Amino acid sequence: MVIFGASGDLTSRKLIPALYRLFQRGRLPKLTRIVGVARSPFSSEEWREELAGTTAQFAKQNFTPESWKAFAEHVYYQPGDIAQDSDFTALSGFLDKHEDGVKTNRVYYLSTMPQLYESAIAQLGKAGLANDSNGQRRVVIEKPFGTDLATSRLLNDSIHKVFREDQIYRIDHYLGKETVQNMMVLRFGNTIFEPIWNRNYIDHIQITCAEEVQVGRRGGYYDKSGILRDMFQNHLFQLMMITAMETPVRFNADIVRDEKVKVLRAVRRFQGSDFSEAGIRGQYDGYLNEEGVPENSQTETFAALKLLIDNWRWKGVPFYLRSGKAMSCRTTQIVIQFKEPPHLMFGGNRHVSPEANRLVIQIQPAEGLQLYFQSKVPDQEMSMRQSELDFRFSAVGDELPDSYQRLLQDALNGDASLFARSDEVEQAWQIIDPIISAWRSPATPTLNSYEPGLWGPIASSEWMESQGRQWFDVCPILA
Ligand SMILES: NC(=O)c1ccc[n+]([C@@H]2O[C@H](COP(=O)([O-])OP(=O)(O)OC[C@H]3O[C@@H](n4cnc5c(N)ncnc54)[C@H](OP(=O)(O)O)[C@@H]3O)[C@@H](O)[C@H]2O)c1
Repeated sequence: MVIFGASGDLTSRKLIPALYRLFQRGRLPKLTRIVGVARSPFSSEEWREELAGTTAQFAKQNFTPESWKAFAEHVYYQPGDIAQDSDFTALSGFLDKHEDGVKTNRVYYLSTMPQLYESAIAQLGKAGLANDSNGQRRVVIEKPFGTDLATSRLLNDSIHKVFREDQIYRIDHYLGKETVQNMMVLRFGNTIFEPIWNRNYIDHIQITCAEEVQVGRRGGYYDKSGILRDMFQNHLFQLMMITAMETPVRFNADIVRDEKVKVLRAVRRFQGSDFSEAGIRGQYDGYLNEEGVPENSQTETFAALKLLIDNWRWKGVPFYLRSGKAMSCRTTQIVIQFKEPPHLMFGGNRHVSPEANRLVIQIQPAEGLQLYFQSKVPDQEMSMRQSELDFRFSAVGDELPDSYQRLLQDALNGDASLFARSDEVEQAWQIIDPIISAWRSPATPTLNSYEPGLWGPIASSEWMESQGRQWFDVCPILA
């Protein structure tokens, strides 16, 4: 595995700890070599030392000096500048020397700034490093994948000049989360959910990805991106696709992704008044004082969208997607809100105010799910109250691996089921692009300010209420 961007934050915080953990669990092939590439002038020994410290910090209780020593023997560093042809020739020589003519699979991981993806890939092609006559060649590309439809198409076109689609692994770390994969098991590994997973029983679906943090020192970057690019086009859409897709016939990369992309194709595109009525924009108080943020910035740090999926299963069932910074707590959750019972026979009872059933799937940080249903209050005529069935992964004692562990392992094994395909990425931009443009136009809908530490602008709750619905504003309880 060759990591470009070896001296960067993602490599030390996520990639190396994930590879280290895979190694500890005996999941890396025995002869695996991890080669870091960046301009910083490390020797292999210096890079290992640097990583020992950061891995101890990020792998926490899983770190032991003995297993680190054994892992570090697989770690190398080769200085290189993506702009320099000669550095790729040198890298090619370095890899060939270590592989010693043995047929070897390689994964190139691009963990550099997105502006460098195209040149890195072109350089890999020019240096013959994409040639797969002596082992498979794959490339993993970090997010963001383009900043709009046009740039993502250009990026896809330039990658396709060097790598075939089946060699390309576009990472969205949400798909590596156990609870996201558990969604598939919940839906397709059980019989009880499928019959009710449709417009006949479901009133609407809410997908929330709330962050407690503010933009902090990332203001300059964030202001150009905004919440729709940062969270919706990728993570929230991935969660929506998995919630809404039809049953794939097999867990196979292309079959799963065929079903996912059909969901995006069926999402009704915004037109006319949708741009102002089917969404809410917000910016937290204090955002304009963040480092790197222009004083008149109109960038959203909060957004909510109401999307409709025009197919037989979902016609008329709104999917409410929302995400924000400076929110009440950190939580990613999917709420399946079922319809109310069509008729209540307990009508004459003054205590009857039933809430409809609700299934809450907690993606992070309290991974699990809760099913809310009505039960009888004992010894009180036919009064009802809401009760809850609660499943938590933590209660079963399972270790939930970091999402990069799963995704790196899949990339090494050549399984792209949990990576985004080019058509998926382009469809996602096709939905989001017109909304971003409309929200940047002179007739842009109101940018509502909100107080940090709440659930976004008040306008967001009012908007839901005007549709006869309510956000599920509950912070997960960490066991
Ligand atoms: N950090 C995260 O949590 C996170 C999460 C999701 C996605 N991502 C994505 O992952 C990618 C990396 O993020 P990061 O936070 O790790 O960035 P970073 O800390 O800024 O690291 C960038 C890396 O690129 C290297 N680099 C820069 N110019 C280079 C050149 N000309 N040739 C070779 N290497 C060069 C830098 O090393 P030298 O200066 O030594 O060359 C450094 O190792 C980005 O695309 C980001 O969007 C990051």
